[in-house]
Amino acid sequence: MRATRGVVLAGGSGSRLFPLTKTTNKHLLPVGDVPMVYHPIRRLVEAGIDELLVVTGAHHVGAIVSQLGSGAEFGCRFTYKVQDRAGGIAEALGLAEDFADGLPIAVVLGDNVFGCALAPHLEAWAQSGKGSMILVKEVGDPERFGVAHFEAGRLVGIYEKPQSPPSRFAVTGVYFYDAGVYDIIRTLTPSARGELEISEVNSRYLLDDNLHWAEMSGEWSDAGTHESYRRANNMVDRI
Ligand code: DAU
Repeated sequence: MRATRGVVLAGGSGSRLFPLTKTTNKHLLPVGDVPMVYHPIRRLVEAGIDELLVVTGAHHVGAIVSQLGSGAEFGCRFTYKVQDRAGGIAEALGLAEDFADGLPIAVVLGDNVFGCALAPHLEAWAQSGKGSMILVKEVGDPERFGVAHFEAGRLVGIYEKPQSPPSRFAVTGVYFYDAGVYDIIRTLTPSARGELEISEVNSRYLLDDNLHWAEMSGEWSDAGTHESYRRANNMVDRI
């Protein structure tokens, strides 16, 4: 496996979980018997990644650091960065450039809970020779996500929250990127919702025929809405 650094994105406003997030960072809410963000962190560490960057917003950085500490509890070492405002997932990822120091990165969204081991996917990605990789998962409500468009089994497009989804395959919040990702992020402009979109980053890699993809095995859920938060809590004992 290529030496890889981990990035956990735990910024954003958490507004869809209000009032649970009135005083608490979304990623510190319980999912099962641990805070939400423990789940994606554990998946990265279990894949052999021991240098992790955690990006979070200014309001909650104290609570996040108090909860996660140095990383010793997880068997890794944390570095922390503050995203001043919720300018989007791609903006948060842009903050990882110095930390990554030219190495490939495995990125997980802090509100994604899943049972899939990442090490086999990291290896498949390395063998593919492609610059990036996404994991997709069939869901019942694809319009809430980035959605993959397939033609004859070939990935031909990625659309963020489309009104008429071209498939039921959501792009999960697990992404692998080479060091070219920061140059792509620098060229992005804010979407209609005022964010730098990760789907735009993935679309650029796809356009360059530089995006590898695979289906995620096992169960997956985000936990960013009341409904999905309940689903993640119900699911967690099975993963
Ligand atoms: O869960 C997978 C989905 O996550 C993907 O299918 C979508 O393509 C992707 O855009 C994202 O969609 P959401 O609308 O659910 O993203 P949300 O704004 O909830 O942010 C997800 C996580 O990303 C959140 O837990 C923390 C992090 N984040 C988000 C924003 C907007 C940041 O760190 N900074 C940010 O500015």
